[in-house]
Amino acid sequence: MSNKKLSGDVYHPTEEVINNANAKCDELYNFAERDYEGFWAKEAEELHWFQKWNKVLDDSNKPFFKWFTDGKTNICYNCLDVHLDSARRNKLALIWEGEDGEFKSFSYFALHRDVNKFANVLKSLGVHKGDRVTIYMGRVPELAIAMLACARIGAVHSVVYGGFSVEALHERIDDSESKVLITCDGAYQRGKIIELKQISDEALQRAATVSSVVVIKRTGHDINMEPGRDMWYHDLMSLPIASNDENVEMMDAEDPLFLLYTSGTTGKPKAILHVHGGYMVGTYTTLKYVFDIHEEDRFWCAADPGWITGHSYIVYGPLLNGVTSFMYEGAPTYPYPSRWWQMIEKYGINILYTAPTAIRGLMRFGEAWPKRHDLSTLRLLGTVGEPINPEAWKWYYKVIGNEKCPIMDTWWQTETGMFMITPMPCTPLKPGSGTLPFPGLQMDILDEEGNPVKANEEGFLVIKNPWPAMLRTIWNDPDRYVEQYWSKYDGMYLTGDSAKRDEDGYYWIIGRVDDVIKVSGYRLGSAEIESALVSHPAVVEAAAIALPHEIKGNAIHAYVILRSGYKRTDTLVEELRKHVGHEMGPIAKPEHIEVVDSLPKTRSGKIMRRVLKAKALGVDPGNISTLAE
Ligand code: PRX
Repeated sequence: MSNKKLSGDVYHPTEEVINNANAKCDELYNFAERDYEGFWAKEAEELHWFQKWNKVLDDSNKPFFKWFTDGKTNICYNCLDVHLDSARRNKLALIWEGEDGEFKSFSYFALHRDVNKFANVLKSLGVHKGDRVTIYMGRVPELAIAMLACARIGAVHSVVYGGFSVEALHERIDDSESKVLITCDGAYQRGKIIELKQISDEALQRAATVSSVVVIKRTGHDINMEPGRDMWYHDLMSLPIASNDENVEMMDAEDPLFLLYTSGTTGKPKAILHVHGGYMVGTYTTLKYVFDIHEEDRFWCAADPGWITGHSYIVYGPLLNGVTSFMYEGAPTYPYPSRWWQMIEKYGINILYTAPTAIRGLMRFGEAWPKRHDLSTLRLLGTVGEPINPEAWKWYYKVIGNEKCPIMDTWWQTETGMFMITPMPCTPLKPGSGTLPFPGLQMDILDEEGNPVKANEEGFLVIKNPWPAMLRTIWNDPDRYVEQYWSKYDGMYLTGDSAKRDEDGYYWIIGRVDDVIKVSGYRLGSAEIESALVSHPAVVEAAAIALPHEIKGNAIHAYVILRSGYKRTDTLVEELRKHVGHEMGPIAKPEHIEVVDSLPKTRSGKIMRRVLKAKALGVDPGNISTLAE
């Protein structure tokens, strides 16, 4: 591949990177192309199975694919127990730094201990295999412990991002019918406290299924503890119920591992379901090859564990690979813009994986901040979540990676569970392109009728073959799973993104083609923001769209029609922004709210958000023949 003459701005990996890589790229691509199931079976064999599978891929009931059928395993066992009989036992599994400088670390032995103990606590709280547990926390190590403890006993975790607020949390607890909520007293963010427990209390007023709440003490400020319902984590962990009795549940490969809510085109967020077997194999393999994991590496995925990136590549992927995962609690620039660079130097981080929005945010402060620190331990860099503009890519490459670290621009989704379009260390890079599908994956870009588009033309990005870490369904809504992902083109998974492919076959993601908005890489739905707005007494109708933003990638702009009797004032507009923040979380606060008399709608009453967007950008709105007036 590296011998081919490529067009455009190309960055070739150094000989050192290629020679150091634990995989020979060409061999991997060839093997996966020749024998797709054999490729995945070989990877699965590197993990522990209590009972081996009978079939690698079962596609007898499309699109409800199954992987490693009849195989018995447990992802938590593979993250922890398998490392205890080797030198990894005393190796650090997790290093954590708090925003306030507090530090914690866990060896594989220590992490196993705590996870096992907490799993016994959960069992004593009545959590059984298949029960759902909502986890609503800041970025603290106990979040990983809680996830792993659930997985260990076969409970299904549903992590709700700690930046979400009352309504978002309430909806997710209700929909998953969680028995237990695990939260913190508070979380630090930019030196302030986010009142996680208080938000939980409000959400629980209307959530009937939760019988116990476990609270981790992080901030130590005064909070309400409901007698009979709320218990401190540290108290529970010191009771005899937190025993060392082994408790690993033998899971079927297809048993649920977690639910993760994400925004879609319409209405309420949907819970994406991932399972023990295929998700484990997918995250293990992709991390190993794409980030070329070496035994001694310290890997830092700077995402939030509350999103898929954190699930797959802070918690599961790194631990499955037996590597040291680093987690940082707070904001990148707190208290100084050099915070991240300082930690890379301090802990000797080898691989940094983050989002374009963070890079753009840090770039704004100039080169002087990173230049003060020794970043020479870095070997590879990564980005995810939204397209990266070439300017930010080059800054990351030059200033952070010192022109020696390849940048893995990984395209994937909550639904895919693992990297899908991504370079490998040996891949020549083009700034802004995720390059090529991961070995064995068949992807395409289609026009409205389902024909592949020509080189450099825009179309709908689809995936043509199943992959192990794929979502299995939408929780409680299999019809929506079929409808949303598998109905536009026969037998193909619709990603919801538009993309182009250049003459070298390199993929360039353009963005979402549905009503999903990516703000700073976070995924939100126009419909959710609109319902938050209309839940305010002053608003009768609302529309939310995304407009380009220099740092965040996109910013939310909202249009509202006021109820009669209400008048536009700056105070009201500010109140509406705050209201969205209270209902959904600060990331969903619209940048700008405009009061209007009417909204463009189709004759059937659907708001035409694309017309609003075109108007705001001063461009041609395209076909408006369905517009009512
Ligand atoms: O639009 C794509 C964008 O993020 C969407 C998926 O969002 P989410 O489910 O929250 O998962 C994000 C982290 C895996 C995609 O449909 N996206 C993700 N990665 C990239 C990207 N856009 C461009 N380049 C990427 N590397």
